[in-house]
Amino acid sequence: MGELDGKVAVVTGTSRGVGVGIAHQLLLAGATVVGCSRGPLPGIPGADDVPGGGQRSAQWVCDQGDHRAIDEFVGKVVDAYGRIDILVNNAGGTVPAPHVEDIPELVQKIQGAPRGGDDYERTVLFHSFAIQMNLISPLWFAIRVFRQMKTQEGTGSIINISSGAGHPAGAPTLVSYGAAKAGLNHMTRSLAEEWGPKARVNCLALGPTMTDNFRSFVLPPDDPDGSDYFQSVPLGRAGDPNEVGRTCVFLCSGQADYINGTTIEIDGGMLPGVLYESGLQTITDLL
Ligand SMILES: NC(=O)c1ccc[n+]([C@@H]2O[C@H](COP(=O)([O-])OP(=O)(O)OC[C@H]3O[C@@H](n4cnc5c(N)ncnc54)[C@H](OP(=O)(O)O)[C@@H]3O)[C@@H](O)[C@H]2O)c1
Repeated sequence: MGELDGKVAVVTGTSRGVGVGIAHQLLLAGATVVGCSRGPLPGIPGADDVPGGGQRSAQWVCDQGDHRAIDEFVGKVVDAYGRIDILVNNAGGTVPAPHVEDIPELVQKIQGAPRGGDDYERTVLFHSFAIQMNLISPLWFAIRVFRQMKTQEGTGSIINISSGAGHPAGAPTLVSYGAAKAGLNHMTRSLAEEWGPKARVNCLALGPTMTDNFRSFVLPPDDPDGSDYFQSVPLGRAGDPNEVGRTCVFLCSGQADYINGTTIEIDGGMLPGVLYESGLQTITDLL
């Protein structure tokens, strides 16, 4: 018997990275998982490797920048599976930028932010895109899913994936992203107050977590396993997407039913700010 048998979960951003680890752990715990990303994929990557995971999962297209697409996607999940018990708002992220007032074209491209006519326009659109993807779209998704949850029996669970960049100490190199994630932590608290007892809303603030993008755009090429890079993290390593997934399982499993409105840090005990300067090196070398 899995801890999440019979539960239906939506996880955003499951084409790669942290979202895949979250989806795998929810599947291992017995949930049915519908993931999404912007491009079509035959399934959640690696879901077939989890016993029964291929049958209990689907990967559909949904661009969370489009509120109509979110409405359609959530409606389709309910039509197919009857209910939604869990939402993990994972899609998001950013690329560090050396100067907040002048976003290089390469950074804009990696992030997938809109182009701009000139440097100024590219820079301001990059920042509004970061806030859209890391704060407004998760709110849109939460609203649409809660409109379903409040019609169901029981208490749903919503988990927002935030970042240590949202710490009140500030986040140079990640200014708009950090502000969006700080907003996500605050929004978590407000929604928990509004939506109990029909939903619990919690947040996970991640430190460095090993993904393909993290390897390509943050870890220095001459330190591929990060043994130097992670010296300032007390546990001496990056987090793993499956560790984030296991915390999601805990929050949704019935073991954490009185945890509501909180932000849990999953960062190996890292102090705020210790990695900002070194985190810029790889992108600066690419520019
Ligand atoms: N990795 C870290 O070190 C770290 C640290 C702190 C916080 N986080 C947070 O963890 C979450 C996941 O990050 P990650 O490192 O796994 O990033 P990632 O490797 O870039 O993956 C992001 C996922 O989101 C999807 N996505 C992007 N834009 C989307 C959109 N408009 N609509 C739907 N899906 C979209 C991507 O799919 P497509 O591109 O295929 O659409 C992809 O599946 C983010 O919220 C990030 O801020 C990560």
